[in-house]
Amino acid sequence: MAGPALRKVESHASIHEAALQEARELTNILGNLLKEHETDSALETAYILVEHWETRTLAHADAEERGLYKEMAETTPELKDNIVALTRDHNLMRHIVSNIKNSLEDSGVGYNVLERFQAMILVDELHNEEEERILPEH
Ligand SMILES: [Fe+2]
Ligand SMILES: [Fe+2]
Repeated sequence: MAGPALRKVESHASIHEAALQEARELTNILGNLLKEHETDSALETAYILVEHWETRTLAHADAEERGLYKEMAETTPELKDNIVALTRDHNLMRHIVSNIKNSLEDSGVGYNVLERFQAMILVDELHNEEEERILPEH
């Protein structure tokens, strides 16, 4: 069963927005550190961002796939294709985060990493928009 917060569109949307806002702020900090050539702090911030995406948005995605999406597919079978598409978004975000982690381990932090964190924000924004559009109103 999905938690009550995920089933209500307003509380679900505020979970999305809170996590995204934190990601935007941390990503701006990372950009400024790179600009100032503060490599050690930039690397530290990149790892904090990885942890942020894993513990907030990717954990949220896991919970949705275990509960909410299953319930929606059962109660509203015509949403099945939308749910497949939303699950692909989750997989894409999981893929980008694991790609960032490999890149940090292999070659440290740089603008390529910043670009991928920016891509995460964009994919998550579009994903949330679609998810909130198909969530039941109550
Ligand atoms: Fe989602
Ligand atoms: Fe969600």
